[in-house]
Amino acid sequence: MLSTSSLYAYLFWNTVSLISNQTDTAIEADIEDLSQRFKEGGIPSLARRVAVLSRDPRLSIYLLIDPEGRPMAGNLNKIPDMKDAGEDWQEFEFVRITNNFEEKHAARAKTFTLPQGFFLLVGRDVEEFHKFSAVILNAMIYGLGMTILFGLVGGVIISRNFTRRIDSINRTSSDIMAGDLSRRIPVTGSGDEIDRLGINLNKMLSRIESLMDGMRDVTDNIAHDLRSPINRIRNRLEVTLMKPATTEDYKKVIQETIEEADELLAVFNALLSVAQLEAGARDIQKEMLDVVDIIKQAVEFMEPAGEEIGARFDLDLPETPFFTKAARPLLSQALINLIDNAFKYGHSDEQIISVGLTKLNNMFIIYVADNGPGIPPSDMSRVTERFVRLDASRNRPGSGLGLSLVSAIAQRHGGKLRLQQNFPQGLKAEIVLPLDT
Ligand SMILES: Nc1ncnc2c1ncn2[C@@H]1O[C@H](COP(=O)(O)OP(=O)(O)OP(=O)(O)O)[C@@H](O)[C@H]1O
Ligand SMILES: [Mg+2]
Repeated sequence: MLSTSSLYAYLFWNTVSLISNQTDTAIEADIEDLSQRFKEGGIPSLARRVAVLSRDPRLSIYLLIDPEGRPMAGNLNKIPDMKDAGEDWQEFEFVRITNNFEEKHAARAKTFTLPQGFFLLVGRDVEEFHKFSAVILNAMIYGLGMTILFGLVGGVIISRNFTRRIDSINRTSSDIMAGDLSRRIPVTGSGDEIDRLGINLNKMLSRIESLMDGMRDVTDNIAHDLRSPINRIRNRLEVTLMKPATTEDYKKVIQETIEEADELLAVFNALLSVAQLEAGARDIQKEMLDVVDIIKQAVEFMEPAGEEIGARFDLDLPETPFFTKAARPLLSQALINLIDNAFKYGHSDEQIISVGLTKLNNMFIIYVADNGPGIPPSDMSRVTERFVRLDASRNRPGSGLGLSLVSAIAQRHGGKLRLQQNFPQGLKAEIVLPLDT
């Protein structure tokens, strides 16, 4: 507001002083002209010149008075009442006759007393200029008034809007604190600061919500799926205690219990890994590694177990190394889980497990395929959930966490696990990863 006012004041002052300077310069030029005449031909020449100039009906004002006080030439008939306007300038009012009307006009002039008592006045009618200044001043005051008015109204509207939106953020936060994590802050789509704040808060809320969901899942899993093995262990120990038994019997039961506890620990570890990977809570150490090499190592590691059940590997790997950044232990674990599944569920007359690497533009796919019965399409998406095991494979050992872990590992690397029907039969599990160099 202050800056607008000073801008207006500056504009006004500049315009007015520009015009008034022009008037003053014009008068000075006249004086220059007249003094030249006076120098050349004295009073008579000056008087003639004044008479000529006075005929011009423009805004110039002249008056030459003789020592007796009689007007000799000029367009005023007597010396007016003058006010000192600083630096030799005088201001006065005079009557001008335009279109038969008498009008009082303001004027500005310089006066000179010449030798022998002659008196000369040279000036300009500044009435128009005064009117003009008044108009400009009016316009500026009006403009300033409008600016202030609009500024105030705009300010009130903006601050109302601002308060309303902050209020809605506050209301949403209260709801969320009261326990409704699904609430989100309304976003107008205008892209301003408050909107961006809302979008970021909403993203944060979504993240918190998914972490909470993950936690709830893990708690549910522990409640449902880990309770029964622990109960089983407990019951067996109780039964053993109740009936008479030899040291050998005790040893056997303790041995079994240790094995079961180990399995349970393994499940806990797997569950924890999946949960941590999914929540992004675990920092994974990526290093530059050769995927071809990792695949070969995993196959080598699993080969003896494969030989036992008569499974054969069919590798399709590039001749040259294929480098990308990944977490070595996680990638190996994922491969081993897939190969383990192929062993367990891919049984057929001639069990062949195809493992390979396909390169795409900025992606690559590691696949493990078997020629077993495969997974029915309706169960495809379900098997990657935690603890999901299909009825057909209940008689096999396992806890249903293998594919969950593979999926979590792929996602943590920015990719995904994709399950497909293998041709002509079996399951083809693909780890699709972005190339990271
Ligand atoms: N290659 C496959 N062919 C047919 N069914 C499969 C195959 N791989 C997985 N499945 C089905 O998907 C289920 C889930 O597999 P997942 O690896 O997650 O668990 P699991 O093998 O049962 O247990 P874990 O891997 O924890 O020891 C399996 O129980 C099985 O029913
Ligand atoms: Mg498995």
